[in-house]
Formats: sequence, structure tokens, C-alpha cells
Amino acid sequence: MRYLIITILTIPTIFYDSAVAGQSSCINCHISSEWVSDTSIAATFMAGDIHRNMGLGCEDCHGGDPGIGFEEGDPELAMNPAKGYGNPPDRLSIPEFCGKCHSDVEYMKKYNPRLSTDQLKLYKTSVHGKSLYNRKDTKVAICTDCHGAHGILPSSDSRSRVFHAKIPETCKKCHSDEGYMRGYKYEGKQIPVDQYSEYKESVHGILVLEKGDNSAPACNDCHGNHGATPPNLASVSAACGECHANNRDFFNGSPHKTPWKEMDLPECEQCHGNHYIQAVTDDLLGVSEDAICLDCHDETSAGYKTAMAMSMSIDSLKFSIEAAQAVVEEAELKGVEGGQARFDLGSAKDDLIRVRSVIHTFDLEQVSDITRAGIKTAGEVQLMAEAALSDILIRQIGLAISLVVIVFIAIMIRLKIKKIDSVTNFEVQEKK
Ligand code: HEC
Ligand code: HEC
Ligand code: HEC
Ligand code: HEC
Ligand code: HEC
Ligand code: HEC
Ligand code: HEC
Ligand code: HEC
Ligand code: HEC
Repeated sequence: MRYLIITILTIPTIFYDSAVAGQSSCINCHISSEWVSDTSIAATFMAGDIHRNMGLGCEDCHGGDPGIGFEEGDPELAMNPAKGYGNPPDRLSIPEFCGKCHSDVEYMKKYNPRLSTDQLKLYKTSVHGKSLYNRKDTKVAICTDCHGAHGILPSSDSRSRVFHAKIPETCKKCHSDEGYMRGYKYEGKQIPVDQYSEYKESVHGILVLEKGDNSAPACNDCHGNHGATPPNLASVSAACGECHANNRDFFNGSPHKTPWKEMDLPECEQCHGNHYIQAVTDDLLGVSEDAICLDCHDETSAGYKTAMAMSMSIDSLKFSIEAAQAVVEEAELKGVEGGQARFDLGSAKDDLIRVRSVIHTFDLEQVSDITRAGIKTAGEVQLMAEAALSDILIRQIGLAISLVVIVFIAIMIRLKIKKIDSVTNFEVQEKK
């Protein structure tokens, strides 16, 4: 009986021990509150950290011997400097600490040949990295601020701090904190702390933060992941042009390109802003109150006349489409089949969308080539729909005439019948 009890009591320990044997002493101690004050470090590491998933252990980053120490109840056997254990890195040395593996092409190739190994190199060129290395300023972002230390996840994981829709939050931690950013200068002035709040209200921010749309940019798409520096004037439009390629190409061939470069003006940003980019309206173009062209062009400049002509040209296309649309709708209400008309009108609408991009050539000829084509299509559609409507009118008149004829004939027939009836009645009466 005593043996039985002992056997029962030892079963769990046997299982426990064999489980432990396959595990690391580091994790066993660090997951147990009997040993360490903070068990969350090992717990988050276990819960999906990419390093753990790839088979790495605590010792791969910290050194030491994971095969000993837990059963002996002696941390120093595991956390043994003779076995490579070192104190955890301070903020200043973390980039090199992570870079030890991540800059090692041969080492990283064994795990993931497609993963780039330039993070540390790029980081050193960023404003963050330069301040860390040149001024020993540890308030700037380091690897662990953006990735964490023990729950590091690939950016494809929606829980990751660098998941597309989470990145703005990650940057916001410092960049929206006035106290934290006080004293830092950008182009000689205090760095503003409004990037997140402005971005949140922008077309891009709404798509990313509210709709989870990763075709729109998060902070890193314009600033880079590891070279997080505001793009210099040439690369501001390079960043926008990554996605808005047509507009970039149009702008590059436009009369603004060279003089703006000479005047040190930014490109897209000059008209659209950087963090608070809004959906455009046609009023931006032209010489009316809201037009951006007026910032630089007064009545005496050549740009003024072109701006006005371009705007009028787009307005004409819009009015043509609206007019055609109204007639098509009326015809459809009266039962005309409008499929073809709507299809053709669609192509005029495409011209309208396209011309809003082509305006970036700032070339009236190219703009009016498109608007002319659109206006022609819309005009033809309108004519077609009007013809259908007048067909209806003719048919309606025809219908009215035949109705009158029918009614007339009906009356005549009725009269005739009445006449016959009265004759018959008379005969009947006579017979009585
Ligand atoms: C026998 C238990 C035990 C084992 C085995 C163990 N540790 Fe620890 N470790 C501790 C304790 C206790 C502390 C002190 C921290 C505390 O009290 O919370 C500590 C602290 C640390 C620290 C922080 C040190 C500092 O200066 O802040 C690191 C890093 C660490 N351990 C890594 C490891 C690694 C890597 C292994 C395996 C190679 C390992 N530990 C194995 C018990 C253990
Ligand atoms: C990818 C590398 C990496 C791995 C793997 C890793 N650590 Fe760390 N660890 C760090 C870095 C970097 C720091 C220092 C910065 C920090 O805490 O943010 C650190 C700090 C620590 C500290 C000190 C925390 C403090 O607040 O002082 C402890 C304890 C620790 N690690 C334990 C572990 C244990 C236990 C494991 C395995 C379960 C582990 N680490 C795995 C990179 C790693
Ligand atoms: C001991 C070597 C080593 C160290 C030190 C190390 N890593 Fe890693 N890291 C790896 C390996 C191996 C992978 C897995 C590569 C893969 O499968 O994509 C990885 C993956 C990653 C990934 C995910 C990459 C992806 O697939 O998107 C990130 C992010 C990352 N590490 C950040 C860090 C950070 C931050 C530090 C420092 C705190 C660090 N690493 C320290 C070896 C290391
Ligand atoms: C300012 C924030 C920030 C800092 C600092 C930072 N990273 Fe990253 N890291 C990112 C972002 C953002 C991504 C990419 C997310 C994506 O794929 O969209 C990324 C991606 C990665 C990847 C995946 C492969 C890649 O290059 O896309 C690795 C590995 C990585 N970082 C390691 C590091 C290391 C090592 C350091 C420190 C030398 C570091 N990061 C510093 C934000 C940062
Ligand atoms: C841990 C805090 C912290 C985090 C997180 C952080 N930054 Fe920074 N960042 C700073 C500090 C501090 C500076 C000012 C450095 C200086 O001027 O010496 C800075 C500077 C910058 C600059 C340069 C401005 C200039 O002066 O030219 C850009 C751009 C920037 N950060 C972008 C980002 C982006 C994008 C992210 C997120 C992916 C991010 N930062 C995350 C602290 C942070
Ligand atoms: C659509 C592109 C784009 C996005 C998205 C973007 N930025 Fe910027 N950012 C810029 C441009 C352009 C500048 C101005 C560069 C210049 O004037 O030289 C800039 C400037 C900055 C600066 C320098 C100070 C300032 O405000 O002028 C910081 C810091 C910064 N951005 C951080 C961020 C953060 C944080 C996010 C995300 C919340 C973000 N940016 C999102 C394009 C972008
Ligand atoms: C001189 C001012 C100016 C510059 C510079 C400029 N834009 Fe525009 N942009 C406009 C105006 C005006 C409109 C609105 C046209 C309309 O709706 O009639 C517009 C419309 C747009 C649109 C919406 C229409 C479309 O193409 O889908 C996008 C996107 C756009 N611009 C991106 C850019 C990019 C990217 C750059 C830099 C390569 C840039 N813009 C440079 C003035 C400018
Ligand atoms: C990562 C890709 C990406 C980058 C980088 C990017 N955009 Fe966008 N942008 C989008 C998407 C997606 C939309 C929404 C769809 C659309 O309207 O084209 C959008 C919308 C816009 C609009 C509103 C268009 C409209 O129809 O009203 C403007 C203006 C604009 N972006 C300008 C810029 C400028 C200026 C930059 C650089 C400072 C920039 N974008 C950088 C992807 C990007
Ligand atoms: C930031 C100032 C600025 C803004 C805003 C601006 N332009 Fe210009 N534009 C210039 C400069 C500088 C030139 C070259 C010198 C000149 O011809 O006036 C120029 C030249 C032109 C030209 C060539 C004129 C010619 O025939 O030589 C056209 C066309 C033009 N702009 C149209 C526009 C339109 C349309 C807008 C509004 C969407 C606009 N510009 C907004 C500064 C600006």
C-alpha cells in the first residue's frame, strides 16, 4: 500500500521531469513565480514569439546553459558567464545585440533566405539611429520600441506592433507625446507632435486605421521602416509616386518640375500636404477662391490662364455628363432600355476620372484632348436618349390618334346598334 501511494505520487513527477528534460532550464525557472518576480517575460516568449517558433531559446540571445540549473535549483549554473551568459543589453547596445544575428547573412539564410539583413545598416542612417550613435541619446526609437523584446512577431501577424494598421500607434507613443519630444528640432524648429492626429483624419489614415486597408500608406511607407527619416525633397514625391505612379510621371514631365526644384519646393506635398492629405475636389484647380493655383499664380502669369482654362475644360465635361445623364434617366423612366447609353456614359465618366490625374502635366493640350473626347461621348449619348424620347412622343401622338379613331368607330357602331335595336323593337311591338 505504501509503495502504491508512493508510485501514484511519483507519476506526475516522472511526467513533469521528462517534460522538463525536453525543455530549457531558463524557461522552467522563468515561468515559475517561485523563482522570478516577472513571469510574463517567459510567458510572452512562449506565446508565439517568432524566435521561439523558429526553435531559438533564451540562450540564443542571452547566452548561458539551458541544460542545467533548474533541477539543481541554482540559477548561476544556467546563467553562467563562462557559458556565454551576459547581462541584458541596455538601450544603447540593443541595435547591435539584435544586429548580431540580423546582419549576419550566412546565419539568417539558414532560417529565412528571403529575409533582408540590412535593418541595422539602415537604422544607422535614420534620424533615430544617428542620434543614438552620435549623441548617445537613448530616447529615440530602438529595435525593441517597434518590435518588443520577448513577444516579437512578424509584421504579417495582426498582433504585431509593426502590423500595417498598428504602426501609427507604435510611432504615436513618442511622436504624440509633447513632453517626450520637447527640445527636439526639425529644420531649426520644435518637432511638432501632430503627425498622428493629422494622419488619423487623412484619406490615408482613414483607410488604414478604420478600414484596415493596406494599400494606403502607414507612417513607414513614407518614412521607411528602418531609415525613418523624413524623405528629403526629392524622395517625398518618390514615396508618393510608389503608389501614385501616373501622377508622379505626369508631374515629372510638367513645367513645374525644374523651377520647383530650383526653388527648393517639395512636389506633391506642396499642394496636398503630408500628414493631413484630404480627398480632392475640382475646386482645388483653377482660379476660384479655393484653388491652390492662386498660391503662386496671379492674373499676370501664364499659369493663371492655363489654370482657368483647365478648370473650365473639366467643368464642361462634368456638365455634359450631368446633362446626358438627366435625359437618359428620363428616357428610362418612360420605358426606354438604357443599357447601351449607360455604358457609353461610363466611358465619359472614366475620362473625367483620368483627367483629374492628367492635370498633373499642367498642360492644357493634354487635358483638353481628354475632356473633348468625353464631351463628344456624352453629347452622343444625350442625342441618342433625346431621339428615343422623341420616338416615344411620336408613338404617343400616333397612339392618341388611333385612340380617337377607335373611340369614334365605337360610337358609330353603338349608334348603329341602337338604330337596329329600335327598328327590331318596333317590329316586335307591332306583332303584339
Ligand atoms: C534556477 C532558476 C533559474 C534558471 C535555471 C535561470 N534563471 Fe535567469 N533568473 C533567475 C532569477 C531568480 C533571476 C533574477 C530576477 C528576478 O528575481 O526576477 C534571473 C534573471 C535573469 C535575467 C535578468 C538579469 C538582469 O540582470 O536583469 C536574465 C536575462 C536571465 N535570468 C536569463 C536566463 C537565461 C538565458 C537562462 C537559461 C540559460 C536562465 N535565466 C536560467 C532564475 C533562473
Ligand atoms: C530575441 C532576443 C531575446 C530572446 C530570445 C530573449 N530575450 Fe530576454 N531580453 C532581450 C533584450 C533585448 C532585453 C533587454 C531589453 C528589454 O528588456 O526590453 C532582454 C531582457 C531580459 C530580462 C530583463 C528584463 C528587465 O526588465 O530587466 C530578462 C529577465 C529576460 N530578458 C529573460 C529572458 C528569458 C527568460 C528568455 C527566454 C524565455 C528571454 N529573455 C529570451 C532579448 C531576448
Ligand atoms: C540569435 C539570433 C537572433 C537575435 C539575437 C535576434 N533575432 Fe530576430 N530573428 C532571428 C531568426 C532566426 C528569425 C526568424 C527568421 C524568419 O523565419 O523570418 C528572426 C526573426 C525576427 C523578426 C521577424 C521577421 C519576419 O519574418 O518578418 C523580427 C521582427 C525580429 N527577428 C526582430 C528582432 C529584434 C528586434 C531583435 C533584438 C531584440 C532580434 N530579432 C534578435 C534571429 C535573431
Ligand atoms: C521606428 C520603428 C522601427 C525600429 C526602430 C526598428 N524597426 Fe524593424 N521594422 C519596423 C517596421 C515598420 C517593419 C516592417 C513592417 C512591414 O513589413 O510593413 C520592420 C521590419 C523588420 C524586420 C522584418 C524584415 C524587414 O526588414 O522588413 C526585421 C527582421 C526587423 N524589422 C528588425 C529590426 C532590427 C534588428 C532593428 C534594430 C536595429 C529594428 N528592426 C528597428 C519598424 C522598426
Ligand atoms: C521611443 C520613441 C520613438 C518612437 C517609438 C518613434 N520615434 Fe521617431 N523620433 C523619436 C525622437 C526622440 C526623435 C528626435 C530625434 C532627434 O531629432 O534627435 C525622432 C525623430 C523622428 C523623425 C525625424 C524628424 C526629424 O527631425 O527629421 C522621423 C521622421 C520619425 N522619428 C519617424 C518615426 C516613425 C515613422 C516611427 C514609427 C515607425 C517613429 N518615429 C517611432 C522617438 C521615437
Ligand atoms: C503620405 C506620406 C506620409 C505619411 C503616411 C506619414 N508621413 Fe510623416 N512626413 C511626410 C512628409 C512628406 C514630411 C515632410 C518632409 C519634409 O518637409 O521634408 C513628413 C514629416 C514628418 C516628421 C518631421 C516633423 C514634421 O511633422 O514635419 C515626423 C516626425 C513624421 N513625419 C512622423 C510621421 C508619423 C509618426 C507618421 C504616422 C502617424 C507619419 N509621419 C506619416 C510624409 C508622410
Ligand atoms: C500644383 C499643385 C499640385 C501638385 C504639385 C500635385 N497635385 Fe495632385 N492634385 C492637384 C489638384 C488641383 C487636383 C484635383 C484635380 C481635380 O479634381 O480636378 C489633384 C488631384 C490629385 C489626386 C486625385 C486624382 C487622381 O489622380 O486620382 C491624387 C491622387 C493626387 N493629386 C496626387 C498627387 C501626387 C502623388 C503628386 C506628386 C507627384 C501631386 N498630386 C502633385 C494639385 C496638385
Ligand atoms: C502606400 C501607397 C500610398 C502612398 C505612399 C501614398 N498614397 Fe495617396 N493614396 C493611396 C490610396 C490607396 C488612396 C485611396 C485611393 C485613391 O483615391 O486613389 C490614396 C489617396 C490619395 C489622395 C486622394 C485622392 C482622391 O481621389 O481624392 C491624395 C490627394 C493622395 N493620396 C496623395 C498622396 C500624396 C501627396 C502622397 C505622398 C506624400 C501619397 N498620397 C502617398 C495610396 C498611397
Ligand atoms: C508653389 C507655387 C505654385 C503653385 C501652387 C502652382 N504653380 Fe504653376 N508654376 C509655378 C512656377 C514657379 C512656374 C514656373 C514659372 C512660371 O511660368 O510662372 C509655374 C508654371 C506653371 C505653368 C507653365 C506656364 C507657362 O506656360 O510657362 C502652368 C501651366 C502652371 N504653372 C499651372 C498651374 C496650375 C494649374 C496650378 C494649380 C493646380 C499651379 N500651377 C500651381 C508655381 C506654382
